[in-house]
Amino acid sequence: MRIHRSLLLAAVASLAFGSVAAPSQNTSSARKVAKAQSAPPQVAQKPLMGWNSWNYFFGKVTDKDIRDSADQIVASGMKDAGYVYVNIDDTWEGTRDADGVLHTNSKFPDMKALADYVHSKGLKIGIYSSPGPKTCAGYEGSYGHEEQDAKLYAAWGIDYVKYDLCSFIPEVMQKQAPNDKAEQMRMMVAAYAKMGKALKATGRPIVFSLCQYGWDAVWEWAPELGGNLWRTTGDITPHWDRVYAILSQQEGLQKYAGPGHWNDPDMLEVGNGRMSLAENRTHFSMWAMLSAPLLAGNDLPHMKPEIRDILTNRDVIAIDQDKLGRQAARVYSEGEVDVWMKHLSGGAVAIAVLNAGSDRYATHPFHLNLAKLGLHGPLQGKDLWTGKTVELKDNMPLELPSHDILLVRIAKPR
Ligand code: GLA
Repeated sequence: MRIHRSLLLAAVASLAFGSVAAPSQNTSSARKVAKAQSAPPQVAQKPLMGWNSWNYFFGKVTDKDIRDSADQIVASGMKDAGYVYVNIDDTWEGTRDADGVLHTNSKFPDMKALADYVHSKGLKIGIYSSPGPKTCAGYEGSYGHEEQDAKLYAAWGIDYVKYDLCSFIPEVMQKQAPNDKAEQMRMMVAAYAKMGKALKATGRPIVFSLCQYGWDAVWEWAPELGGNLWRTTGDITPHWDRVYAILSQQEGLQKYAGPGHWNDPDMLEVGNGRMSLAENRTHFSMWAMLSAPLLAGNDLPHMKPEIRDILTNRDVIAIDQDKLGRQAARVYSEGEVDVWMKHLSGGAVAIAVLNAGSDRYATHPFHLNLAKLGLHGPLQGKDLWTGKTVELKDNMPLELPSHDILLVRIAKPR
């Protein structure tokens, strides 16, 4: 499959950006052509911040829920902390009329009015669709109506589109190329290119979010199609095991993240389900370390103060939003403890020490090895959850509660 990548990229670049040079056998030249033809990204210069309806409301979301959530983003201080996008996920879609124009269903009586309301709060609004005939929840998708839908979104004032593969797999890829995985992947890439081109043609700056669960190393080709973020895994759930599994699957993807284009380990579950405060803290800290989109997914009107405090921790948000946009790497693991490091602007670093295990380290502390991070102690830093100054010494014992994290910013590492 990889052998075909260069041809594929050139073909897709031509689809996405109009006429380009003849398909090349060379991936990097195909990339250069695509890059030269694409305007510099106007959006997503930092990891996206906002809220999405799916992780709490699922298919029940209504116009009122979106308005209430927008109100709460402002009232809770989240807007001041950087949360901007209010994203409607699946189940807003109605049916198409005789001209193919998509209408909303009765839960969303007037999308333009809703977009105006969200904009009036100084926020931006996102929407959801699928390249397939149906969305994941079985609502109307954009298949065969890509340009029409993109124009409709722009006319409504939409600022962000999440495009979710779903029914395109069985209804198009598997039907049209039943025994040919490479052809299926080519069709998938072309489908994303088509919507990327349609969104670009509207002239409106619209964030393009690819949701196809990381298939076919999406991080290698999404930026050329105008993708600003792409899911790297299947769906998150509000359970520590799932959050930790997704976290562990991000190692190695660092080089694909940067201003304008980000790995997306899925939306936040902070405040959802039964995760402990430590688990919520660790989840939020690590998404910040990963330069991941910080898209809250909880019930904002009923948010507990301790959850609001996690979501609005400005020091942690600053790690995520650092202008270098360098995703953290897992530098080493020892048993159940992982040590991650992220390079920040001005030569600073953030270090995260995470206890993924049980209570074992309460009886035998973990010892931090600064040399493995390329650092020399003692180092003065700020503990971003207590706000206190800490000193990191080589081989120092650390007792971390189960599933908790030590997150330290060091302004002047050595
Ligand atoms: C898929 C996506 C989710 C959500 C649902 C909606 O499962 O991965 O994030 O958008 O579809 O149906």
